Amino acid sequence: MLPSNAAVPPASVRHNARPYLHGPEIAAMARAVQAGQYGHGPQAERFERELAAHLDVPDVVAVSSATTGIHLALLACGVGPGDEVIVPSQTFAATIQPIVALGAVPRFVDHHPATLCVEVEAVREAIGPATRAVLPVLYGGRPVDLGAIVPELERRGIHIVEDAAQAFGSRRTTAAATTVYSFGPIKQLTALVGGAIVPRTADEAQALRRMRALGITSSQTDRIRATTYTVEGPGLRGVLPDMNAAVGRIQLARFDKVAARRIALWKAYERALRGALDVSLVDVGDDAVPFNCVVRVPGRDRVHRIMRERGIGVGVHYPPNHLQPAFARWTRHLPVTEQAAGEILSLPFHPAMTPDDTQWTATALLDALADTTA
Ligand SMILES: Cc1ncc(COP(=O)(O)O)c(C=O)c1O
Repeated sequence: MLPSNAAVPPASVRHNARPYLHGPEIAAMARAVQAGQYGHGPQAERFERELAAHLDVPDVVAVSSATTGIHLALLACGVGPGDEVIVPSQTFAATIQPIVALGAVPRFVDHHPATLCVEVEAVREAIGPATRAVLPVLYGGRPVDLGAIVPELERRGIHIVEDAAQAFGSRRTTAAATTVYSFGPIKQLTALVGGAIVPRTADEAQALRRMRALGITSSQTDRIRATTYTVEGPGLRGVLPDMNAAVGRIQLARFDKVAARRIALWKAYERALRGALDVSLVDVGDDAVPFNCVVRVPGRDRVHRIMRERGIGVGVHYPPNHLQPAFARWTRHLPVTEQAAGEILSLPFHPAMTPDDTQWTATALLDALADTTA
């Protein structure tokens, strides 16, 4: 057991998560604004090419957020009214809302208790005649390998769209999936807000580019010069503005530093909590750049309250979606998710923290657990 520690938390531990800027982002953003191109422009074009090189993929489509990216990716797969999308309940509401917005049905499934990620068996059991897509969530950054079921999904015409909002930098497991990243404020890479899609094919990339521009086929420059344009199919306003792309480019060039720091912090938590009774770490595996550090503890609500009262930035990510009023029509009993829902606690986790901060927080967690059982 770690010794009890000082009453006042270190400043960085007061936040559950925080944006991390390297410094040059502000000037880069100002230059992009001064250049006068506020929508999709040269910064976004470059960002897409640099992301593709970094990820070692043929193409990347930048979008305004992962929520929009999931919406567009499902649209590109042809998901529409009445179609079922297999999705874990244990995720942010942003995973589910695009399914519902398309008139499709979220077919909620349980996750593995140690990872909070879906497994092949749960997907296989949930497949039905209306299944059109599977939407695994890379919870905490953990890659989800559905490779064993890809041939069956392909045979049935079922697409995989990965919600990799929390997983930029983690290993990609299958080229059979369309992968959607978030570059939101507290993500591994931030563009302040933003996202990107790794398409499976050149045709899909083209469709996504058209759909992120309201379904209009011509480029912005061509549209301005011409007397008309063509709207071909559905679309959203989903481009990544150039000023956000400029921020993303600075972050991408320095990504290795942030990735190493996040991995080191997660490992420091693991060391500090190893062997602690009543605490199990949600495992992100060896192939992740962790987004967060989540533990499962008994009496979570009391532990949460005690730590919050001490000024420690713990949180809960997330209340399950199948129990939300908005998604009640599609609810079903998910015992593993419901059990986890009362136990998960996200510890402070962001790149401005040090390994000593994780040690401090681990001790505070054990103190809080001791208080709940005293
Ligand atoms: C699992 C998950 N999916 C989707 C999103 C939505 O990302 P964005 O804020 O870029 O729309 C988030 C953002 O927090 C997320 O954590």
